[in-house]
Amino acid sequence: MASKAAAALAINGGAPHREKFLVFGAPLIGEEEIREVEATLRSGWIGTGPRTQQFEKDFRKYIGVKHALGLNSCTAGLFLALNALGIGPGDEVITTPLTFAATANVIVHNGATPVFADVDRRTGNIDPAQIKKKITKNTKAILPVHLCGRPCDMDPIMDLAEKHGLFVIEDAAHAIEARYKDKKIGAIGHISAFSFYATKNLVTGEGGMVCTSNRKWDDAMRVMSLHGLSKSAWSRYSEKGFKFYDTQLPGFKYNMMDLQAAMGIHQLRRIEDNLKIRDAHWARYNAAFKGCEFLIRPPEQKHIRHARHLYTPLLDIDKLGATRDQFLAALQKENIGAGIHFIALHLHSYYKKRFGLKRGDFPNAEYISDRTFSIPFSARLTSADADDVTGAALKVIRGLASRSKASW
Ligand SMILES: Cc1ncc(COP(=O)(O)O)c(C=O)c1O
Repeated sequence: MASKAAAALAINGGAPHREKFLVFGAPLIGEEEIREVEATLRSGWIGTGPRTQQFEKDFRKYIGVKHALGLNSCTAGLFLALNALGIGPGDEVITTPLTFAATANVIVHNGATPVFADVDRRTGNIDPAQIKKKITKNTKAILPVHLCGRPCDMDPIMDLAEKHGLFVIEDAAHAIEARYKDKKIGAIGHISAFSFYATKNLVTGEGGMVCTSNRKWDDAMRVMSLHGLSKSAWSRYSEKGFKFYDTQLPGFKYNMMDLQAAMGIHQLRRIEDNLKIRDAHWARYNAAFKGCEFLIRPPEQKHIRHARHLYTPLLDIDKLGATRDQFLAALQKENIGAGIHFIALHLHSYYKKRFGLKRGDFPNAEYISDRTFSIPFSARLTSADADDVTGAALKVIRGLASRSKASW
């Protein structure tokens, strides 16, 4: 590759590879969502109501659990899960450092301590052998994250949980469509949480769902999600008329609105079709990057169904002699938006200071954290967009590979 003449990079004053900026994570919204949102706006009721109920029913069926609770975020779902399981001060929850802040923040919000266990360098997912080493008498739960849509190795995680009497809360923010062996992600652990944030596989703007097959936990989460009011409080505004409601606990304000559910209902109906589109983009990206000595493509695993949320190659920074951040700055100038999933949490100031963590603590998470990047990957992309992405990425890599180190 380096032998091909390198085109001038846009960051050095050359013409950008793509004319118009390609936004990272632009969702595919159909006419059905637009019509349903309009109908909701015209209906006189935009808060939590019948559309949220419908979406919850459809979602629990899709995941294969008994209960699904619509919320304003996945963060709320993870928080409520820990809360319903009674996890609090003095308790430890084992999770991955290679995740979004929300995963560990909610452990802190509940007064418990996040304990990180390093990831598998190949998959980026929490390594069960590392979890085992972190279990103490204070451990109450394991919080695995199915990173980028790739299921964690759930059999050994569930075995460890059973052996040590721990709860498993799945952070399935990226993994709505994922499967592990013959099991649906979100139906394996005790409670699971999904995200419908603006860039996710299913979008409602902001939004989330928390799932469980345990009635008691669903009840507890439902009550806490709406100020601690008795369960059917939302229906006090429906045609059933005013209902007395009781404040049972000082709860939170985490409920989903019908306006959000209006989108979610139709997004869910097209979820498998959209996955097929992203499957095709995945194959296109793999084919384009095959043979590029500076990129390590995401691995394929036979026993899983990847939800194809994020396509995250690793940049071989040692071979390239440039950092991932230099690469991303140059890619941005080629008019391609990109992301990083994720900078390992133990390298963030709060986690460093509060828990005394430092670089060197989780070598595999750091290896990925320093090299990973995410390119646009939504079902909204056309094949031409996808080709722009790979063309620009390869152009930048070529440029970096052929430039003299002194020029930086
Ligand atoms: C792994 C992971 N967990 C949790 C969340 C939180 O999701 P939400 O924004 O819906 O609260 C995110 C959001 O991006 C995430 O990436």
